[in-house]
Amino acid sequence: MAHAQANFVCQSCGTVHGRWSGRCESCGEWNSITEESASGAAGGPQSGKSSKGRPVKLVALDSELGEAPRSSSGIGEFDRVVGGGLVRGSAVLVGGDPGIGKSTLLLQIAGRMAKTGGNIVYISGEEAPAQVQMRARRLGLSDVGVALGAETNVENIIATLGAEKSVQLAVIDSIQTMWTNNIDSAPGTVSQVRASSQALIRYAKRSGTAIVFVGHVTKDGQIAGPRVVEHMVDAVLYFEGDSSHQFRILRAVKNRFGPTDEIGVFEMAGDGLAEVTNPSALFLGDRETKSPGTAVFAAMEGSRPLLIEVQALVAESTLGTPRRAVVGWDSSRLAMVLAVLESRCGIRLSGHDIYLNVAGGFKLTEPAADLAAGAAIVSALSGAVLPAENVYFGEISLSGAVRKVSQPDARLREAGKLGFTGAVMPEGQTKDSKKDLNVSQVANLGDLVAMIAATAPAPKGGDTS
Ligand code: TYD
Ligand code: MG
Repeated sequence: MAHAQANFVCQSCGTVHGRWSGRCESCGEWNSITEESASGAAGGPQSGKSSKGRPVKLVALDSELGEAPRSSSGIGEFDRVVGGGLVRGSAVLVGGDPGIGKSTLLLQIAGRMAKTGGNIVYISGEEAPAQVQMRARRLGLSDVGVALGAETNVENIIATLGAEKSVQLAVIDSIQTMWTNNIDSAPGTVSQVRASSQALIRYAKRSGTAIVFVGHVTKDGQIAGPRVVEHMVDAVLYFEGDSSHQFRILRAVKNRFGPTDEIGVFEMAGDGLAEVTNPSALFLGDRETKSPGTAVFAAMEGSRPLLIEVQALVAESTLGTPRRAVVGWDSSRLAMVLAVLESRCGIRLSGHDIYLNVAGGFKLTEPAADLAAGAAIVSALSGAVLPAENVYFGEISLSGAVRKVSQPDARLREAGKLGFTGAVMPEGQTKDSKKDLNVSQVANLGDLVAMIAATAPAPKGGDTS
């Protein structure tokens, strides 16, 4: 037998190097390269055997294969994110920080599906059966008939699934603990994670069993192990949230069978995760309406509108370089809004510390949040309390113009539903639902500043300029 050659594999990006070095040239990560045996590492199903290959059956694009058959997970928020239920034979990766509730979510899904008669297998590579049973008791799922296994060897798992009768869903918790006989490296290394997922995904496609992998996430927010797992699976979902807050958000970052911009919202309670069907109410729960510096942003997450409070605090600075701190929003976006306020609206901010916070630990990614952030900052600076019945949305361009954003109607409808009676939005944007709400349209940031300044209390110490 040929001498097994050693490879040096970056544990961060999966690049194979010919020799060891302190820094991966491909992804720039330090200390991420470890030595792994190359035997079978790059192999497909029958690596080693050289065969001539056989022709495969080809079908036309329009041949009758039908819609991808889906089965509901019994949890509406999860179904929404995967695009209407788990597809037969698909592989889904659910990533998230440790302790965020991945095992809880998947055990609940397994329980719901088993309750409706599915044959569900839950393989735990991290916890002993007793621990999983304890969690199931806590979730009230002891008697639903989920088959539980504690195993980390992929060949044993595939044999177990093969011995069961038509398994509908198999949960693998977690993919980082799995290892296959074909590779010498330790579990958790890139080659092991890659080869194990490959084998399990191949089994899923062959048998029609849907497989959900749990994946841990590294400090910088990537799924630990190779990115290649993300490429191999059909859908990648991130389960995120703040451990100091109750709510959790499931977000699709890749989905071969559905949209990627949908979110599912859950609340972690004593007896597991509860679906939150009206998230705006959750994010606005204990809103402070009497002090300056808060504005409600009408956001869109996929097809779902969401109202979120943006808070700002402006304080006189004693520092040479004033502080800019932002939680839940992009700091360069804040810098941009501040620069526009300074240079287009004549508001001096260089002597002030500015803090911006998105309530509830939510992370905003939409540029449409600019207007709400701007309103909160101007309100905090001038001391003018913004009308509690208003929502804000609009993108601010560098010229100071307020630009149109997508789906204004859905945003306005959600605001109306939650009792808001006014909206400040870009000029020229749709007028459909305008009749229910008292809409003020602003063409540029200066209009907004003038609007807020008109309600400001008389300046006490030259706060505004
Ligand atoms: P877990 O699902 O084990 O997280 P992960 O698999 O992502 O590491 O969830 C762990 C946390 O969830 C733990 O801190 C306790 C909390 N929890 C609840 O608050 N309520 C519950 O019903 C359960 C089962 C867990
Ligand atoms: Mg877990």
